[in-house]
Amino acid sequence: MINISIEDIKKLAKEKGYVVLAHNYQLYDLQQIADFVGDSLQLAQMARKIEMDKILFLGVDFMAEMVKALNIDKKVIVPVRTATCPMANSLEPEMILEAKKKYGAPFVIYVNSTLEAKQYADYLCTSANAVEVVSKIDSDVILFGPDKNLANYVAEKTGKKVIPVPGETGYCYVHNYVTLQQVLRLKNLYPKAKVVVHPEVPKDVRTIADYVGSTSQMEKFVALDESKEFIIVTEKGMVDRLKALYPNKKFYGVNSMLCYNMKKNNLKNVYKALQNDQFEINVEKTQAEKLSYLVQKMLEMSR
Ligand code: 13P
Ligand code: SF4
Repeated sequence: MINISIEDIKKLAKEKGYVVLAHNYQLYDLQQIADFVGDSLQLAQMARKIEMDKILFLGVDFMAEMVKALNIDKKVIVPVRTATCPMANSLEPEMILEAKKKYGAPFVIYVNSTLEAKQYADYLCTSANAVEVVSKIDSDVILFGPDKNLANYVAEKTGKKVIPVPGETGYCYVHNYVTLQQVLRLKNLYPKAKVVVHPEVPKDVRTIADYVGSTSQMEKFVALDESKEFIIVTEKGMVDRLKALYPNKKFYGVNSMLCYNMKKNNLKNVYKALQNDQFEINVEKTQAEKLSYLVQKMLEMSR
């Protein structure tokens, strides 16, 4: 197979009747073939409105499973089966059960978690609405997992006791290892730039930020802010997206921030996926029902 273009893929998706959804961290080429690109919350909202019978999802597995759970009778395919999220896989169902037994508090599960773990949670959230969801729960103690940095941010914003589960080992390697020195170095090079960070970064990086938000909230911030320069502390795909969307503004990313799993999808395997209608995502009906219930409750709490 030689030189597959964005246009070739768009044409094939249309011919085969696929709607294409992609996360903001996908390669910019792939973002261009998608009918919809967004953060986890927007993808959940979008997934509930799809009319076509076939969906090509470009992101990682927990996101594809959510899209399938919300479209149980539709065909959902992904180009690579192994595109996963190590942080999501760090939270096991037993950890949730143990924490609930120990503290007797509600469990809020971050959408970056397995479908199996979600079965044991009381509430669901994304990085865009975690603060809002937790603030609306009638409990001063909240169990939250798997991201410890997001848990810490939510605790700071809500004033509640937010207990991270699994704890120290729950983090995203792309965001957790960014250092204050890396961001300060960029700030030194571009003193006028505003610092925009994802809440998955550690607290010391968060405290020097001008804005903290999910990937799509970042986009809204840079669109409305009068500044012309921004240091974007999240995965590279988002930096590329902002550069393309706002050519009159300048965006500086942190070189080390690459999600290896998000980058497993490429033009070649996406073309192949459409050609062969593969790889199909399947979820159990009962698991899908629980996830749909959690999504519904989350959307009601974060309107
Ligand atoms: P968003 O929902 O903010 O896009 O984040 C998803 C994610 O995987 C962050 O690493
Ligand atoms: Fe998971 Fe981090 Fe990749 Fe997001 S950036 S999908 S949290 S590994």
